[in-house]
Amino acid sequence: MATIIDVAVLVGSLRRESLNRRMAFALKKFSPEGLELNVIEIRDLPLYDQDDDASPPERSVTFKQTIRDCDAALFITPEYNRSIPGVLKNAIDIASRPYGDSAWEGKPAGVVSVSPGAIGGFGANHHLRQCLVFLNMPVLAQPEAYIGNAGDLFDEHGGISKPDTEKLLRTFMESFLQWIQAVRNVG
Ligand code: FNR
Repeated sequence: MATIIDVAVLVGSLRRESLNRRMAFALKKFSPEGLELNVIEIRDLPLYDQDDDASPPERSVTFKQTIRDCDAALFITPEYNRSIPGVLKNAIDIASRPYGDSAWEGKPAGVVSVSPGAIGGFGANHHLRQCLVFLNMPVLAQPEAYIGNAGDLFDEHGGISKPDTEKLLRTFMESFLQWIQAVRNVG
């Protein structure tokens, strides 16, 4: 039996009908054997405050421990004003501090951006990659996943209605598994 790889999935939208959240649950269906995707809620996280580093809020502590315990991270994000939403950045910041004690350290990562717009959240995808480089997270390079025109992407069962996009997402998940295995083998 394959070893189970625990992937923390962070969704950068709090919206009830979020396309990105739908993507997170669609990707669960496309996960190859051995990958377990767990959506980690970020809605109730406090705002990061560096003054609290010595004694962070309890919720931030449990969130950070969840990140510490995962094997890899998958970020699924909308684009807000050509960058990532503040809620996602806040979550990343919380688990990264205090300096020198980041829970993200060395974790393999993947990035998917989803937008109803034509360019698929390209700007957010790459702003996020900039953060992940600093956090020393090896990020899957290819295939890139800029999922545009996503307003009509999901069917009523939470599946993907566009075969080409489904194919890309299945390839993405296979590549993500191989990437995690490669990073863990050299780590
Ligand atoms: C957006 N939206 C947006 N879309 C985009 O492609 N590029 C952008 O820069 C922005 N900027 C932006 C800013 C703010 C504050 C909001 C609220 C929205 C539109 C965005 O892609 C759309 O609302 C998505 O549906 C958001 O993702 P979820 O909530 O559906 O996952």
